[in-house]
Amino acid sequence: MKIFKDIKSFRDWRKSQSGTIGFIPTMGALHEGHLSLIEKSKRNCNITVISIFVNPLQFNNIQDLENYPNKTDDDLLKLKLKKVDAVFLPNKSIMYPKNSSTIVQELTLSNSLEGQSRPGHFKGVTTIVSKLFNIIKPTHAYFGKKDAQQLRIIQRMVQDLNFDIEIIPCKTLREKSGLAFSSRNQNLALEYRKKANIIKKGLDLAKISLNNGEKSATILKNIISSKINSEPEFDIIYISVAESNSLKELENIQAKEILISVAVKIDGIRLIDNFTYSS
Ligand code: PAJ
Repeated sequence: MKIFKDIKSFRDWRKSQSGTIGFIPTMGALHEGHLSLIEKSKRNCNITVISIFVNPLQFNNIQDLENYPNKTDDDLLKLKLKKVDAVFLPNKSIMYPKNSSTIVQELTLSNSLEGQSRPGHFKGVTTIVSKLFNIIKPTHAYFGKKDAQQLRIIQRMVQDLNFDIEIIPCKTLREKSGLAFSSRNQNLALEYRKKANIIKKGLDLAKISLNNGEKSATILKNIISSKINSEPEFDIIYISVAESNSLKELENIQAKEILISVAVKIDGIRLIDNFTYSS
């Protein structure tokens, strides 16, 4: 497994590679969810490249950035076991030299949900992902549905800016309890980690209601919030019922595919989860 810490050495190696190149951008503290994206790339592509970079531009809260878990040694061990071909592991001054003054910003899908509750978050994501795409030059890039809005925005960016890259959506992997794997779970105290599957339980109740024909977004949101609020330490940041392509909020559910998503804060840690539902 090759490890590259600078752009030039990665590019020199990249020139000697041929066939399909699958790319998985990450911020490290790797878990089963990340590893499932890697496995998918390894199954589908000739070469698999992963990047680890905790991107300061997408954190609107300095405390959140400082608390983000850093596990580089463990991560590299996991990647070696997965037989990843190359890891791109740059530092901040390589990705954002002092004189850089260009950003990439998506202007529509980025304003709601995560974008509304974390102002500036998505321009950080689109900027770093564009830069990584230009460095790695993948043929395929793998993104998790766990971050559904991020996935939609990257798909839009690739279309709008004509990146010649196929974006592959990957299903959300969950702990046995139902809690979606997230690097942030590692910061949860055990008592909260045990209870955090209440988020998935709330979403599951909404899914049952949809299956029973419920069409009111307000009722679905109430079902989810009553479940999550049964744990008093869990603060709901938002619950959304939106059309899954435009991410526009819905009141009456008529759209073909909807995205139901939630963000919750527990003991200062922000967790998100979602599901899409097709009628
Ligand atoms: P990070 O949170 O490290 O996630 C990297 C990739 O793993 C994303 O595509 C994310 O959706 C996916 N992922 C996370 N948890 C998952 C789970 N439980 N199941 C399946 N996939 C999961 O997302 C980012 O990093 C950053 O915003 C990044 C795209 C790297 C830009 O900095």
